[in-house]
Amino acid sequence: MTVADAVASRRSVREFLDTPVPHATIERVLDQARWAPSGCNYQPWEAVVLTGAPLDALQKVLLAATPDDPAEYDWAAPAASPRYQARLQGVGAAMYGALAIAREDKENRTDFTRANLVSFGAPVLLLCHFPKFMKEPQWSDVGMWLQTIMLLLRGEGLDSCPQEYMGNYGRTIKAHLGLPEDHMLFCGLAIGWKDDKAPVNHFERERVPLAEHVTFQGFQP
Ligand SMILES: Cc1cc2nc3c(=O)[nH]c(=O)nc-3n(C[C@H](O)[C@H](O)[C@H](O)COP(=O)(O)O)c2cc1C
Repeated sequence: MTVADAVASRRSVREFLDTPVPHATIERVLDQARWAPSGCNYQPWEAVVLTGAPLDALQKVLLAATPDDPAEYDWAAPAASPRYQARLQGVGAAMYGALAIAREDKENRTDFTRANLVSFGAPVLLLCHFPKFMKEPQWSDVGMWLQTIMLLLRGEGLDSCPQEYMGNYGRTIKAHLGLPEDHMLFCGLAIGWKDDKAPVNHFERERVPLAEHVTFQGFQP
């Protein structure tokens, strides 16, 4: 698989097969992902990777828990701007359309959102955390590490879904896993094999055209 193929074939998968993922595969991917770049080579990322009984136990706790109030960080802020609100609504409409869940069907929408708590049936969950003193540049480094992992997973035939929804349960997760209280639980990464028959894994995603977010200067035509 070329890098371009890995980028083009990655999508957020929200219905997984329950086929177990070998430990050696996950370890190989994470070992390779160590070569992701980071400002000052800080490598701010840390993670716990769960499968089997430990994952079941965490999910049981999450299903019974209430979200942190307030959450330890705010991932929804851009939605206050109409430009980003429109993008959020776009992906929501496409996803719930594929699930055949109507806009006014709040109960089923909530149920599907809560499917985040069981990582959409993924057999493996990576939980990403780092010390709270990390600032914006280091959060960005962690994003690069996560994308490196997601692309390497494609190389193994695996799929994933990043899950900042887990940030709503940061305190619960840290307490359950014995992670330091002064760490930020950034997100989950659901990992497994895509259920190719599930319509939610096939809706059309949108991206803004290049001309809307990149300008070029100094190039010859
Ligand atoms: C850091 C991060 C956190 C995300 N958190 C969630 C989440 O909690 N639940 C979810 O269903 N999707 C989540 N997503 C997936 C995005 O909705 C998705 O990347 C976006 O709609 C673009 O679609 P694509 O990944 O299929 O290309 C997250 C993505 C990123 C990068």
